[in-house]
Amino acid sequence: MNKGTAPPESPWSDSAEAWIREMGDDGDYGRKYVLDPAMLERVTGRGFRTALDVGCGEGRFCRTLQTHGVATVGIDPTEALIERARSLDPAGDYRLGRAETLEVAAGSFDLVVSYLSLIDIPGLAPAAARMVAALRPGGTLLIANLTSFNTAGLPEGWTADGKGRPRFCIDHYLDERAVWVAWRGIRIQNWHRPLGTYMALFLESGLELRHFTEPVPRGGDPDKSDRYRRVPWFHVMEWQKPGA
Ligand SMILES: C[S@@+](CC[C@H](N)C(=O)[O-])C[C@H]1O[C@@H](n2cnc3c(N)ncnc32)[C@H](O)[C@@H]1O
Repeated sequence: MNKGTAPPESPWSDSAEAWIREMGDDGDYGRKYVLDPAMLERVTGRGFRTALDVGCGEGRFCRTLQTHGVATVGIDPTEALIERARSLDPAGDYRLGRAETLEVAAGSFDLVVSYLSLIDIPGLAPAAARMVAALRPGGTLLIANLTSFNTAGLPEGWTADGKGRPRFCIDHYLDERAVWVAWRGIRIQNWHRPLGTYMALFLESGLELRHFTEPVPRGGDPDKSDRYRRVPWFHVMEWQKPGA
């Protein structure tokens, strides 16, 4: 793993500052009130000692895992985000790198996490292969992702119908594609892939599905909560590598 030299420019670089602002200390609404509780339920009390967070961004979930006694390595190709992670957690292990070319010792992690990063990774198949290789036998791959039903509605997302009523339309569901999305100073590409693409990839990698949930919002602004209940938004999947 290259710890010191910047990889080729990340498409996230121009959005890093706005992203850091957006995350604040506790993450945005979806992280704080929807995904974190669902993800941490899968971590707490499981005895994980080591975790690799692929696409760790500014390192928030690594820091959270550490409070649960898990030693973390975070990797991300966006230099400004890795710098921020290091400045918030100087003793932490944060490395510049892409999932597709991830170089860590094979079989070395109890837990590999992808927290809303699969949708950002162009080379899904090589990335998944490297994540699976990084897991020890019996190890857990924990994924939070935007649902494919949601990414099929991008980039428009919520729109208004002829009477001004909010609508969220999905289309071309089976067609894999990259779409530009923009909000509050962030402009990035997300990949839409049908859910079957992700499922087939991990099944073909030999992993076993242990848990699948579409987490419900737990508190926060009622208007935001209502939106998260109306439209499919996130799922959390836990896969296990056989051979413990
Ligand atoms: C939506 S952010 C999620 C960040 C963090 N996991 C979180 O939940 O706050 C997606 C992250 O994926 C990273 N990313 C983009 N392309 C990637 C790649 N090829 N391999 C690994 N990470 C990538 C971006 O730099 C960004 O930090």
